[in-house]
Amino acid sequence: MNTPVEGFSKLTKTQKIDWIATNCTKDPKATKQLLEQYWNTDPRVQKLHDEFIENTISNYYLPFAIAPNFKINNELYAIPMAIEESSVVAAASKSAKFWLERGGFKAEIIGTEKVGQVHFIYNGDREKLSDFFASAKPELFKSAASITQSMEKRGGGINAIELRDLSDKIEGYHQLHCKFETLDAMGANFINSCLEQFAKTLKERALAFDGFTEEEKNIEVVMSILSNYVPDCLVKAEVSCTISDLGNTDMPAEEFAKKFVQAVNIAKAEPYRAVTHNKGIMNGIDAVVLATGNDFRAVEAGVHAYAAKDGQYSSLTHAKIEDGIFKFWIEVPLALGTVGGLTTLHPLVKLALEILQNPSAKQLMQIVAVAGLAQNFAALRSLVTTGIQKGHMKMHLLNMLNQLGATETEKQQLVTYFKDQTVTNASVKEAYERIKSN
Ligand code: MEV
Repeated sequence: MNTPVEGFSKLTKTQKIDWIATNCTKDPKATKQLLEQYWNTDPRVQKLHDEFIENTISNYYLPFAIAPNFKINNELYAIPMAIEESSVVAAASKSAKFWLERGGFKAEIIGTEKVGQVHFIYNGDREKLSDFFASAKPELFKSAASITQSMEKRGGGINAIELRDLSDKIEGYHQLHCKFETLDAMGANFINSCLEQFAKTLKERALAFDGFTEEEKNIEVVMSILSNYVPDCLVKAEVSCTISDLGNTDMPAEEFAKKFVQAVNIAKAEPYRAVTHNKGIMNGIDAVVLATGNDFRAVEAGVHAYAAKDGQYSSLTHAKIEDGIFKFWIEVPLALGTVGGLTTLHPLVKLALEILQNPSAKQLMQIVAVAGLAQNFAALRSLVTTGIQKGHMKMHLLNMLNQLGATETEKQQLVTYFKDQTVTNASVKEAYERIKSN
């Protein structure tokens, strides 16, 4: 069926759709109708979306939702979330409300430093390389001046350039390990531009360095790229209250607090659980990262690397009971931007940022960390009390009914029916069929 295609990118959008519909789908007419159905009615908005990526044939919708009532450092936020999974927004909202009545969330920035590296091979004398680096370093900074100028004006720029010898790992392998402050920008383009300039300058300076032999002068740059591992671009968010204040948690507060801390400790101790535990945290984090037009793949990669920083994959959250106080917190690296990228381009991203009162990158880091903590609180609260399925299946009910093709009236009837019934695939199907046959 599918055959190789030459020059697909050069085809018009209609030709691309024709090709894909005819070559890869059973009902080309239905495919075309579906793709068109998801176009924006305003051609200018559609064009904008078409141009975000390449070979666009339609739009792929995700629900855009709001989790209200988040009190963070005494400010109230309604948090926009883009996510496909039912229960996530409900869980976030429930947590927000719970902690709103208990003083809210506290969040603080621990660091904002980002990293980029020039990876290169040098097989010569190590001391000579150190001497060369010391002499070339001012030139490295200077050569990137046109790139860093406006960032520096705003208080950011290159924080440090270090020479690292990793030749014990790979023969001749060295790095320029560079640290950056990119303020409200995620900074990928800024960092990569600086790095590519460093690589160029490094090679040029090496060729002109008298201390090197002819062979040593030929530093081989392998690549220059930012790192998505940002352990020093770190934010902490926490909640705390007296155990007695935990009150309404479907079990006595003391028992709840103890079980909750045990659940966190299990995730700290055991990778199988840690991965699922952190997945729940990422339900909250990704949804806000996506809604605000940030790079969720970068965030995911960096967060999971951080979760494994001590040699074993572990929980991103921590909990303890001390002197009758329940404390629950998260520490998470988040490289986020609130300027550049999609922030002013994507109308819903712009709106999401407006809903968040146009936060700085630091404020957004705090909001996103709180969304992760809130999500984890809701998940653990269910897990150690009623179990996750009760709430989750209730939320999933509408998806199941839509899948079965239920009408609006049938949906209403079944939602009422399942208010006090257990939701399972079988029970929903059975109830639906019963209603249908009446
Ligand atoms: C489901 O998307 C997330 C949970 O599995 C998280 C967890 O187990 O902590 C409920």
